[in-house]
Amino acid sequence: MKNIFVFDHPLIQHKISYLRDKNTGTKEFRELMSEISMLMAYEVTRDLPLTEIQVETPIGVAKTKIISGKKLCIVPVLRAGLGMVEGIQNLIPSVKIGHIGLYRDHDTLQPVEYYSKFPEDISEREVIILEPMIASGGSLSAAVRIIKNKGVKNIKIMSILAARSGIEKLATEHPDVNIYCAAIDEKVNQNCYIDPGLGDAGDRLFGTK
Ligand code: URA
Repeated sequence: MKNIFVFDHPLIQHKISYLRDKNTGTKEFRELMSEISMLMAYEVTRDLPLTEIQVETPIGVAKTKIISGKKLCIVPVLRAGLGMVEGIQNLIPSVKIGHIGLYRDHDTLQPVEYYSKFPEDISEREVIILEPMIASGGSLSAAVRIIKNKGVKNIKIMSILAARSGIEKLATEHPDVNIYCAAIDEKVNQNCYIDPGLGDAGDRLFGTK
């Protein structure tokens, strides 16, 4: 599908292997997720628009370029998306950050928004939604809808590990959204975990299990 992009850079693949390993502890897991996010962000931001400026160097005047316009906003989906923030902030220190929290209603099985907070000018920004795991894609699809309803025109999704069925469903529901991930697994188990996946990303990130 033409709005799905899988990063196969050796550094990313190497780090994902350790992220998947059940013997990787909380500290290393957090560091790996941050490093993978930084490497992915480098590519995901490749098409940011530039403006030409002039800078006085010690020798003369250089015509050079900076990122133009209202730039970026990243939106981690609580809670595992938080693990992707620091790596991107290292690369883009002035990035604005929104947050979105969703839970699945027991009866309807539909995602319900329980928290959201966005920069006031979010509609003028390019938004990158951060969710390390795409299993069914249901909550992420709801997150995209919420952000579209804020008037955002340019949305990307950055994930680390996706189930094929989930990412393809998401790509079909939102053909205008580019989805970036670093690995795709074929199965989701009866508990909605990606198989073999890496387990519960939030628990592994925050040491809650
Ligand atoms: N969320 C996770 O943290 N892990 C999965 O396997 C699926 C969704």
